[in-house]
Amino acid sequence: MLLKLTVNNRKLELSVNDSMRLLDILRDELNLTGTKEGCGIGECGACTVIMNGQAVCSCLVLAAQAQDAVIETVENLSNDTRLSVLQEAFLTSGAVQCGFCTPGMLMSAKALLDRNPDPSEEEIKTALEGNLCRCTGYIQIIEAIKCAAQKMKNLKEN
Ligand code: FES
Ligand code: FES
Repeated sequence: MLLKLTVNNRKLELSVNDSMRLLDILRDELNLTGTKEGCGIGECGACTVIMNGQAVCSCLVLAAQAQDAVIETVENLSNDTRLSVLQEAFLTSGAVQCGFCTPGMLMSAKALLDRNPDPSEEEIKTALEGNLCRCTGYIQIIEAIKCAAQKMKNLKEN
């Protein structure tokens, strides 16, 4: 099939097999390997990307479902060599250990902050429900998201 979609602000037309998953298209066709595959069945969230404004598991999205979609991956967060506020907050809060869950966590957090710049702790926990982390115990990840929200608020006000 001919797949038309926008990935990280680039409009693309790709010839792909319709049984391909969005995860494979990103990693294998576009070399965007920041998006990780953990379980492959929608349970770990390592493959989370933002599709049309929503955090989705890219392992559960088939090529045809991504037709005309607007996709954002973790590669889009940093600006050249500069990390985003959210990425910096993950680093400074100790929210990254092995890092395997981090791209998915970041994208779930970004989708949340895009629609709700001042989330409560409960809202953060709900947004991360589909993302598993074996290392951090989640506390630092939640702290990082709170920190990033505060910093973005300060930047907006100044
Ligand atoms: S790899 Fe997609 S949810 Fe685990
Ligand atoms: S940092 Fe290792 S799985 Fe989350």
